[in-house]
Amino acid sequence: MNNPTNPILACSGLYKSFTEAGTLVQVLNDINLTVAAGETIAIVGASGSGKSTFLHLLGGLDRPTQGSVQLCGQPLAGLSEKAIGALRNRSLGFIYQFHHLLPEFTVLENVAMPLLIRGESHTSALSDASQLLEKAGLRTREHHKPGELSGGERQRTAVARALVGQPDCILADEPTGNLDYETANSVQELFFTLNSEFGTSLVMATHDLGLARKLDHTYKLANGTLQNCSV
Ligand SMILES: Nc1ncnc2c1ncn2[C@@H]1O[C@H](COP(=O)(O)OP(=O)(O)O)[C@@H](O)[C@H]1O
Ligand SMILES: [Mg+2]
Repeated sequence: MNNPTNPILACSGLYKSFTEAGTLVQVLNDINLTVAAGETIAIVGASGSGKSTFLHLLGGLDRPTQGSVQLCGQPLAGLSEKAIGALRNRSLGFIYQFHHLLPEFTVLENVAMPLLIRGESHTSALSDASQLLEKAGLRTREHHKPGELSGGERQRTAVARALVGQPDCILADEPTGNLDYETANSVQELFFTLNSEFGTSLVMATHDLGLARKLDHTYKLANGTLQNCSV
């Protein structure tokens, strides 16, 4: 469905402000970005610079004050929340600093969830999830609950869940920011291996310049604007 010459994700003239205690806080000021198929982009910037806000807008989880976001060629502004949800389920995977796994479901069920939501049969969703968990080195953990895993295993599960539906693009918000150095490296390795195997685009907010260096382009968010940045 996606024409390789068209961006997977694009935004133009994007503004976002919040009103906090009667004061207007301008977080994003005229941001433009295009993400091509398979392209990997790091967003760096100080805490509070607007990285999470930006990813929320790109993923259609929040609406811009002004400007447009296009996902797989579709402007989000004209779509209902339900239509955005369906497009997001097909086209995007999310990874957060904290795993956001559902505690009452097993690892296997958590990873299968995007496929079940999409309407795949139980058997096929669980089989696809199981295959990805094998690649993630978590086959023996399939029937455990997230609370029984280590921090690194939980984040590997979150990586598997983000990629199971073979989305066009992953939005990752400080995905290894909560892990020690070695565990973070092993999660990143898994992430990059699967990402390049599936040819998935990536937009990742990170504090870690070493991690940013592994991606195709790095931009710095400062004073609400996106600046080219070599790391
Ligand atoms: N829902 C919200 N309501 C009010 N202010 C918000 C909201 N979300 C974010 N902000 C403000 O936007 C700014 C950027 O926050 P954030 O995007 O979380 O930055 P980062 O992820 O780079 O640390 C902060 O000043 C924060 O207080
Ligand atoms: Mg943040």
